[in-house]
Amino acid sequence: MAILITGGAGYIGSHTMVEFLNAGRELVVVDNFMNSKPEALERVRKITGKDFKFFQVDLLDKEALDKVVRENNIDSCIHFAGLKAVGESCAKPMLYYHNNITGTLNLCEVLAKYGAKRIVFSSSATVYGNPASVPITEDFPLSTTNPYGETKLMIERILKDIYNADNEWSISVLRYFNPIGAHKSGLIGEDPQGIPNNLLPYITQVAAGRRECLSIFGNDYNTPDGTGVRDYIHVVDLARAHLKAIELAETVTGIDYFNIGTGVGYSVLDIVHAYEKATGIKINYKITARRPGDIDECYANPKKAYEVLGWKAENNIEDMCRDSYNWQRQNPNGYDS
Ligand code: NAD
Ligand code: UFG
Repeated sequence: MAILITGGAGYIGSHTMVEFLNAGRELVVVDNFMNSKPEALERVRKITGKDFKFFQVDLLDKEALDKVVRENNIDSCIHFAGLKAVGESCAKPMLYYHNNITGTLNLCEVLAKYGAKRIVFSSSATVYGNPASVPITEDFPLSTTNPYGETKLMIERILKDIYNADNEWSISVLRYFNPIGAHKSGLIGEDPQGIPNNLLPYITQVAAGRRECLSIFGNDYNTPDGTGVRDYIHVVDLARAHLKAIELAETVTGIDYFNIGTGVGYSVLDIVHAYEKATGIKINYKITARRPGDIDECYANPKKAYEVLGWKAENNIEDMCRDSYNWQRQNPNGYDS
């Protein structure tokens, strides 16, 4: 039997494929390349020396998706495919709701039709909104402030209703904190198009000389040094959490939610300094205005993932910075290099 990976050519999907292939799992991958490149899949083959089936399919094309599931002995799914840029989601809400929600509904309908009622879903710490305190546990109240976050929250609710209606499903909702870093080989990594929105890709491009200076969005937050605090997690640790989640889903039915973070909060300045230490490169920065919608602090209590999944993060912040720079250095223009 095979595992269907949606969005496998993307940043987290490609790293997860490597872990699954190395664990001897059979994979069938779909992606429409709306935010990724075919080269990422070639690199996965190169790292692992293993093959998998790939179909260029859009989740909005239900017939094509039906054919993939019908013909490939799929018994479970890891669902990464979706759009993820917060700012873009505010400008193009219909695109986000349609792609993320309709895509997920199509997927769940097709999986149910062929009895593949096992799914791991990529949710986000964004569903905790502006948390009243940190660290965050899975039972914190849920809320969001933008259409992207709204799609994650709605999908979580849809999955709950799907389970309530049919208890044969096994559903793991993984709430990722801030994934960064890259595979140690430097062959796969995050490849943002245009000006990066997120902190680490921006710092990496400053380090590589592609951008002049990092703008730190505000130093008047209620944090030890005034800059925003987040829970950065190495993408390979995150990838391994999916393997644990699938292993559990193969033995139990139900729906459960897991924070996937390290439990440690780092400020923007901490990250700048860790990056400098890991790479020996000075990062130019200036303090600018706050970015609308940003919060003071967001970090996980990851205890439940350890107790129930047997998973915990192993890489530290210097590993994350070093691996992200290694990927950038080897691929100055991402997969187009
Ligand atoms: P990514 O954009 O690199 O990967 C997503 C992949 O899905 C891309 O390859 C894209 O082409 C594909 N895709 C999108 N819509 C599709 C559709 N309709 N049909 C087929 N393929 C489609 O993003 P990522 O960083 O790898 O994130 C993976 C998942 O994790 C997303 O659901 C994202 O919302 C979630 N997530 C990411 C982060 C983060 O910071 N990277 C944090 C929390 C949650
Ligand atoms: N930041 C800067 N300058 C930049 C970019 C970011 O100072 O150029 C700061 C932000 O203000 C914030 C921190 O760096 O304090 C992290 O910002 P990111 O944009 O890297 O990450 P966010 O925590 O804002 O959001 C990310 C994803 C969301 C996801 C969330 C939780 O973009 O989609 O993590 O998983 F929901």
